[in-house]
Amino acid sequence: MGNEDRNRATEKAYRREKFVMPWELTYLAGNSLGPAVASVADRLVRTSNDQWGQHLAGAWKKNGWLSAPEEIGDKISLLLGADQGTTLVCDSTSINLFKLLNAALAVDPQRKVILTDQGNFSTDLYIAKSVGLIHQDVTVRIVPRSALIESLDPSVAVLMLSHVDYRSGQAHDMASFNEKARSVGALTLWDVSHSVGIMALDFNASGVDMAVGCGYKYLNGGPGAPAFVYVKADLQNTLSNPIQGWLGHAEPFVFSDNYVPASGIKRLQVGTPTTFSLAALEEGVDLLLEAGIQLVEHDSRKLFDAFMAGLEPLVRKGHVHFMHDVQRGNVSGHIGFKVNDAEALHHRLMADNIVTEYRYPDLLRIAFNPLYTTVDEIERTAAKLKHLLGQH
Ligand SMILES: Cc1ncc(COP(=O)(O)O)c(C=O)c1O
Repeated sequence: MGNEDRNRATEKAYRREKFVMPWELTYLAGNSLGPAVASVADRLVRTSNDQWGQHLAGAWKKNGWLSAPEEIGDKISLLLGADQGTTLVCDSTSINLFKLLNAALAVDPQRKVILTDQGNFSTDLYIAKSVGLIHQDVTVRIVPRSALIESLDPSVAVLMLSHVDYRSGQAHDMASFNEKARSVGALTLWDVSHSVGIMALDFNASGVDMAVGCGYKYLNGGPGAPAFVYVKADLQNTLSNPIQGWLGHAEPFVFSDNYVPASGIKRLQVGTPTTFSLAALEEGVDLLLEAGIQLVEHDSRKLFDAFMAGLEPLVRKGHVHFMHDVQRGNVSGHIGFKVNDAEALHHRLMADNIVTEYRYPDLLRIAFNPLYTTVDEIERTAAKLKHLLGQH
């Protein structure tokens, strides 16, 4: 890396002062829980004192509490490369998967298959299976990743995939799966929990039908932050929310006995927005928008490159193994690798103020978030790994 790049990448961690975390910590687990955004505490105090305190129930309208799911959704759509009015913040990723899988199955009742891949994130598989339990005539087809394309046929209602493999960090090529799915008339449902906020997504160009994602990873929305749903504009009004709650109703405050879905993305809402969590999430999303997602992705790649360069001797000597063929086109915001004594290594790094993630039995994960991580920290991490593995 040239000096100029090094300075820029170093300087860009850069927004470290916008986060609350121990200064000496190298935090490489932001793909699990992003760090605390410094402005959140004040925002929550203001929400409580100036809004709730002053306006009480009037704040639902006066302070935009009711419209926050759509307004913050619109901000997130900028990170997704999607249109305004396509994204709604609500519920958890698991619940949103449930809603969209059921909705997708109802679009064409002749199609009875949910297709997904082995090793997809656990909750995605569990939710698909729970949908299968409710609809006895629905098959959840779970195949190896290499068999996904050949398994796409006209019986498939929805192809449900994670954009980024939570273990390896491998990113799927969204555009090609979307195209293949479209060619057999199947819808696509992407879980972008491990890419939103770290990769510059382009849902419009890659033809995504539906998506869900987490608020607490790279969006830095805090523990338990609400998730989001995305549905492309021309599909929204053909989807039925299987959980018909009052706030997905066209006129919730008429309190009619009969459910009439709202038009657009709003029909995917179920109940009362979680105001404080939404406010915290908005701070995280604003921080990203201010930084610029293209720059975040660009600088995340620089951290990745620095790590790969540092790790190269360990890979060459067979001390660490990647779980996939790492290439320019399949890089995401994190990398997972298998290593002997992974758990012990994780603890020894932690003792040196380097927070990685350990996943049973032998996996370490490292996330590259340039908002608060410098190239120097990444080089130090690689050097420490070499030292611990006896390769210094
Ligand atoms: C890909 C993916 N989907 C979903 C989830 C979690 O969903 P929920 O927020 O409903 O717990 C995670 C959590 O790590 C995840 O990695």
